[in-house]
Amino acid sequence: MDRRYQPPLPDLAAALGMVTHTAAFLGRGWQDDPSGAERACYDRYLCILDSLERRSLFDCSLLDVGCANGFFAYLFAVTLCRQVTAVEDMRGASAGYGENAFLAPLLRAQREAGLRHLKVLDAPIEEFLKSCPDRQWDVVLCLSVLHHFYTGYGDRPEVGRMGEDERRSLFAALGRATGRVLYLEFDHARVPEGFLSTFRDSGGFAGSAVIGSSASAVGDTRDLYELWK
Ligand SMILES: C[S@@+](CC[C@H](N)C(=O)[O-])C[C@H]1O[C@@H](n2cnc3c(N)ncnc32)[C@H](O)[C@@H]1O
Repeated sequence: MDRRYQPPLPDLAAALGMVTHTAAFLGRGWQDDPSGAERACYDRYLCILDSLERRSLFDCSLLDVGCANGFFAYLFAVTLCRQVTAVEDMRGASAGYGENAFLAPLLRAQREAGLRHLKVLDAPIEEFLKSCPDRQWDVVLCLSVLHHFYTGYGDRPEVGRMGEDERRSLFAALGRATGRVLYLEFDHARVPEGFLSTFRDSGGFAGSAVIGSSASAVGDTRDLYELWK
């Protein structure tokens, strides 16, 4: 069976209920998601939502890098953001994720809910950012994606691995694209020591802090960082 990284997109009523009645939502036991998804995702969503609210970023634009089935892009588009751009080139398919892991669910939700402020792009992020070098989003999500530029995917290390110069130039482009804050989650074991400071310096960020942690698809715990301008 195909692997499934993120849970299915909740319907509009459930998505709105999540932010308006968080306590009731948590009480329903979202950890028992029956979809077989490898990541719960709701925990990271609520953590980022909380951080955005603390920063009073209520009507912001957001770029989701490597959005997979678009769980975060969709939820932020229906709850908090005036504009969302979701970018995914489906290279994770090499690790056994099927169609449900990629853009089809997001495109369907976009169509059915009439989300005209959500743009969905099937492209490598490095190419997309080159096509709009002056564009900025208030918020950028880089969740469990950048370490693949060091190690590729699973037993396909050649998929997406970059050289040092290419990585630094992508990190700089992600920094230029960030207007206010970037959320970063990565696999500590698969990036060299000093990765966070390299990323922070290349991207021109003023500081960083851990705002939460979450269990990854392979069982380790990953910190969730916010990096601000
Ligand atoms: C491990 S998944 C993480 C998905 C999601 N960000 C999350 O944390 O739930 C990484 C995703 O990034 C996508 N991806 C990897 N490199 C990419 C690139 N250079 N451009 C666009 N998407 C990419 C993969 O296809 C995959 O769907």
